[in-house]
Amino acid sequence: MASQVSEKKSTFTTLVTGANSGLGFAICCRLIDEFLATRPQTQTLQLLFSTRDKRKGDATLHRLNAYFQKALREANGRTLGISRLLEARVKIEGVLVDLTELLTVKRLAEQLLSREERLDVVIWNAGITGYAGLNWPKAVWHMCTDLIHATTYPTYALPDIGLAAKWQLRGLRSTDQATAGSADEPKLGQVFLANVFGHYMLTHWLAPLFTPSSRVIWISSISATPPTFDIEDLQCLRSETAYEGSKRLTDMLVLTSELPSAAPYVSTLLDTPREAVKPKMYVTHPGVIVTSIAGLHWFISFFMVCTMHVVRLFGSPWHPVSPYKGAVSAAFVALAPPDQLSDLEARDGKGKWGSAISVYNDERVARTEVGGWGFGGKIGKVPAGSVTGTKGRYRGLQDTNEVSRQQFEEDGRRLWREMEELRVEWEERLESASLENIGKF
Ligand SMILES: NC(=O)c1ccc[n+]([C@@H]2O[C@H](COP(=O)([O-])OP(=O)(O)OC[C@H]3O[C@@H](n4cnc5c(N)ncnc54)[C@H](OP(=O)(O)O)[C@@H]3O)[C@@H](O)[C@H]2O)c1
Repeated sequence: MASQVSEKKSTFTTLVTGANSGLGFAICCRLIDEFLATRPQTQTLQLLFSTRDKRKGDATLHRLNAYFQKALREANGRTLGISRLLEARVKIEGVLVDLTELLTVKRLAEQLLSREERLDVVIWNAGITGYAGLNWPKAVWHMCTDLIHATTYPTYALPDIGLAAKWQLRGLRSTDQATAGSADEPKLGQVFLANVFGHYMLTHWLAPLFTPSSRVIWISSISATPPTFDIEDLQCLRSETAYEGSKRLTDMLVLTSELPSAAPYVSTLLDTPREAVKPKMYVTHPGVIVTSIAGLHWFISFFMVCTMHVVRLFGSPWHPVSPYKGAVSAAFVALAPPDQLSDLEARDGKGKWGSAISVYNDERVARTEVGGWGFGGKIGKVPAGSVTGTKGRYRGLQDTNEVSRQQFEEDGRRLWREMEELRVEWEERLESASLENIGKF
C-alpha cells in the first residue's frame, strides 16, 4: 500500500530561475540527464524554468526541448525503444519573472500557488554582476603575472557604486492605492535585489508549496571572499564589490540557516512554526565558467575560454569552464538522495558545494572553504572531498578559529534579522499594489 502511494506521488517539480543562458540553462540540461539516469521509471520531472520575457521563454523552451530530444535519440541508440518510456518522464514549462521588479515576483508566486502543486526543488540561479566594465590594463597585468588567482578571484572589474534598482511602486497608475505611499519608497540595491532579495521574497511567497523535504538551492560564487562584504551595508550600495558581496551574503544566510540562532527568522521566512521541520537551504557555486554574465564580446569570450582551459591545465581546481560542468554541484544538491546530502551535512557540517575540476577535465562536487566558517562550520575539520591546497584558495583567507567562527554565527543572526525586517517592510509596501499594474509581460 505504502509503495502504491509513493508511486502515485511521482512528480518531482523543480523551478530554476534565469534559465535562458549560461549556468541556468546548463542546470536544466543536467537535471534532465541526471534525473533520467538516476530516478525510478515511475518518477516524472516537471521542470519549470524562468526567463524575463516571453520571447526568451519561447526560445528557451525550444532549445530545452531540442536538448531533450537529442538525449532521447542517444538513449535510443543504446537501448532501442527506450525513448518512448523516457519521453513521458520530463515535462518542461516556462514561467516569467524579473527579480528586480518585486510585483512580478509576487505574481509568479501567486501563479504557482494557484496550481497547488508542491515544489521539491527551487534553484535560485538568476543573477547579475552590476559591473560598469573592466579595467583592461589591470586585468591583462594580473593575468600575466598571477594567472590562477587573478582568474579565480578577479579584482579588475569596474564598480558601479550605489547602483539602485528602478522604483517598485512609483509610476504605477495613480488610481492604485500603493502609489500613495510610494513617494517615500526607499532605494533597493540592484545587485542585492537581483541576486538575493528577489529570491528571498520568492522563497517566502512560495513557502506554502514547500514540504519538509523540499530544497532551496542558492547559487553563490567562489569569489565571495570575506573582504567583499561589509555587514553595515546589507544591500551593497556603498560597495565596490557589490556582486561578490551579494554572494558572500548568500553564503552567510544559507550556512547559518540551520543554527538555533537563525531559527526564529527562518521560521517566519518559511511560514512554519519554530519547532517544525522546515525545507532546507543549500548553497552551491559553479566555479569559474564562461557565460554571458561578464558581458564580453564573443571574440574575447573565445579568448577567455582558451585562457580558462590553460588555467585548468595549470592545476586550478575551480575552472570547469563549461556551464554544463559548472552545473554539477547544483544538479547534485537538487537530486542527491538524503543519505548523500542532508545526512552528510548533519555529520560533517553544512557546506558550500562547489563544482571542481581535474586537469583531465573531470568535474566533481567538492566542499569549498568559507572565511569564518571553514568547510562545514566545525573548526579544524576538513571532510573528505573538500578542495584544499593553495592553488584554489583565496590568498587572504585566514584559517577559521573559535573567534571567527563565533563572529560568523553572530553576523549570520544579524543578517537574518535584517533580511526579515526588510521582507516584512516590503511585503506591507507591496500589499495593496495591484498585480494588474504590471505592464511588462
Ligand atoms: N559565470 C561564472 O563564472 C559564475 C561564477 C560564479 C557564480 N555564477 C552565478 O551563476 C548564476 C548564473 O550566471 P551566468 O554566469 O550563467 O550568467 P548569465 O548567462 O548572464 O545568466 C544570468 C541569468 O540570470 C537572468 N537574470 C538576470 N537578471 C535578472 C532579473 N532581474 N530577473 C530575472 N532573471 C534575471 C538572466 O536573464 P537575461 O538574459 O534576461 O538577463 C540570465 O538568464 C549567477 O547567479 C551568477 O552569479 C556564475
